Order: sequence, then C-alpha cells, then structure tokens
Amino acid sequence: MATKKEKKTLFVRVDEENFEKVLQKASEIIKKGGTVAFPTETVYGLGANGLAPEAVKKIFEAKKRPSGNPLSLLVHSKEEVARVTQNIPEKALKLMEVFWPGPLTLVLEKAELVPALTSGNLGTIGVRMPDNPVPLELIKRAGVPLAAPSANLSGRPSPSTAAHVRTDLEGRIDMIIDGGSVEIGLESTVLDLTDKVPTLLRPGAIGLDELEALIGKIKIGYQDSGRAEKGFEKKGGQKYGHYTPKTPLLLVEGKNEAVFLKIAELVRLFQKNGQPAGLLLSEEGATSLFSEGIVLSSRLSETEVPEELRFVLGPATKPAEAAKKLFEGLRSLEEKKPAVIIADGAFSLKGPGRALLNRLREAATKSIEG
Ligand code: TXA
Ligand code: MG
Repeated sequence: MATKKEKKTLFVRVDEENFEKVLQKASEIIKKGGTVAFPTETVYGLGANGLAPEAVKKIFEAKKRPSGNPLSLLVHSKEEVARVTQNIPEKALKLMEVFWPGPLTLVLEKAELVPALTSGNLGTIGVRMPDNPVPLELIKRAGVPLAAPSANLSGRPSPSTAAHVRTDLEGRIDMIIDGGSVEIGLESTVLDLTDKVPTLLRPGAIGLDELEALIGKIKIGYQDSGRAEKGFEKKGGQKYGHYTPKTPLLLVEGKNEAVFLKIAELVRLFQKNGQPAGLLLSEEGATSLFSEGIVLSSRLSETEVPEELRFVLGPATKPAEAAKKLFEGLRSLEEKKPAVIIADGAFSLKGPGRALLNRLREAATKSIEG
C-alpha cells in the first residue's frame, strides 16, 4: 500500500482494570472530532461523531470509502434512535425490543439532525445498538451516536481482530482499542424498514426466519444465487463492491464429496500451470482431502498444498464457528500469496450459514458447482 503515514495511532489493549482510563481517552478523541476503532460483537468498527460532518469526513478518508456509500450509526439506547430518525414504525420497535443490543441494523427515515455526509445523501439512516461494553460506553461518554462502518480499508475483508485493523488503518486513525477477537465475525443483518414490506439488504447472524416470525413478510433485497426478488433495486451501499481479497477466489458450492473432488481437481489444474493454490476449507474438507486412510480417489498431498496454504474454518455443520474465522482466513491466506484461493462452499445453511455463504460469494471472483 503506497499510503503515507499521516498520524500517530494510539494502540491500547483494554481490560477490566484499565477500562475507565481507556474509555476516557477514547471519548476525548471522539469529542475532539477524531477517529477510534473498537471491537463490537460482529466485527471491529471505526467510529467518529456521527453528527459532525468534519469528523465523519475522516472516516471516509481513512477507509478510502466512496463518499456516496452511507454510514450507519451506533447508538447506546433505544431512546437515542428517536433523536436520529423519525416516523419509527411499530415493526422497528418490536425488533429493537427482541434483538437489541445485537447484530441487527435497522434502516429508518433520517432526522434533520443527521448530516447528509453520514447518510450518503439518502433520506434514510441505518441504526444499531451493539452488544459490547466498549462502544456502548464510548457512545455514552461522548454523548453522540457514532458513525461506525467496519474498520477496514474499503474493499478489504472486515476486521475480526485489532491486528486486522492495524494492518489496514495504522497511521490513518487516532486510536485502536484492542478488545480481543469478536464473537460473531460477520457484519450485522441489515433490514430496511422504510417501505411497507421490509427488505433484507444484508444477511447476518440474525436470520430471515427469526425476523419474519416477529414482523411477517420480508423481501430479499440482495443477490443470493437468484433468490432475490425480480427487479430488486440496489440500495444504499450495495452499489459499491466489498470483500474483495487481493488474491482471486474460486468458490466451490454443492454437497460435500462433490465439492472436495472438484477442489482437488482445481488444485492440480492450477499446479500444472505453476500456480500454487491456497485452500479455505471446512473441517470435513480438510479431513477428506488430506487425512491418511481416507478413501477419496483424489486425496491431496503435502507437496500439492503445503499446510501453511490451508486454512480450516470449522465444521461444515457448525457455520457459526466458521463465520467467526472467515475474515481471518481470507486475510491470512492472502498474506501467503498463493496464485489463487479455492474456497469450500459446502457449509450448512443453518443459523449464520446463509450469511457465511453470502460473504464467500461476495468475495469470490467465480462460483463453481462441485
Ligand atoms: O456489524 C456491523 O454492521 C458493523 C459493525 C462495525 O457495527 N458495521 C458495518 O458497517 O458493517 P458498514 O458501513 O461496513 O456496513 C453497513 C451496511 C452497508 O452495506 C451500508 O451500505 C448499509 O449498511 N447501509 C447503511 N445505511 C444505509 C441506508 N440508509 N440505506 C441502505 N443501506 C444502508
Ligand atoms: Mg464494511
């Protein structure tokens, strides 16, 4: 990255003992219009005063984010939502009651108070109450909602550790609060409530079925292997690409054995052309492809894919575990600089499985049936 280091970034590991002191410092930075990265339960966020255009501008600059891409606001109470939005529908109140604090961003009509720069010039704004004491306390102390996108350079995988934030944003922001690994690892579910029928704009840990059980029918407003409603229009940030790993990524979808066989075939094809492949695998994939004694006609050897070029996400049947490690897997494989990354897409669609597959599809240069 040919980016000049512009400022000193304070890096602090937060714990029970220094919590007060760290939060005091962070809130001073926010009050002065600066930028602070912090953990949330989904991914690390980069926060600034969401009501001050000069502060919000720094987020766009640090992330190199296109200025039309709307930011959402993190709030620390349901009451704060009434300050930054208007005409809150009944359905939104129900959702907040059940799922907040938590991984659900609600897109609502924006109040005058919110600057156009924050909302990407839209009349709407995304709001979320995170389930992590660091941002909750920071918002409370700073006395303002935080504009807070994920704390990565635009187009890079979202950060699930403070080290990821450091890689992307050191020298570009004022402070990084290290609170360890995040719990979920995928960004929040985004639900637009500004039309009569709500629209799911981004799948996340809270699934469609859970939402529909509470508020009734929801439209799918993102591209998910043709499941999107016909003629759906891209809303807000969907116009902008994201999750683009530096290395081309091939996603192999389908049922276990078929997927693993296809992966082995692809590895050999690339190898013939002198192109080593990195593998992003389920535990089942790793076992099938590399374990001694497993009878798979095309078991791969250590020389075909050395251990350091394999990243195991977790059991295919437990997508929550895999989701937590996805962005770490993408980042760590990229660092090893294989010619291509081949990803196992045989994960269960239970729970956050759908969101996991959605992120894999977005990262993929190409999706292949196994
Ligand atoms: O879990 C999360 O949501 C994390 C943590 C840090 O809170 N944040 C996050 O922010 O992922 P960001 O900016 O990377 O993603 C927010 C998503 C984007 O896809 C954005 O386009 C969409 O929400 N969004 C925000 N405001 C919107 C609006 N008014 N209309 C439509 N989409 C909106
Ligand atoms: Mg993001």
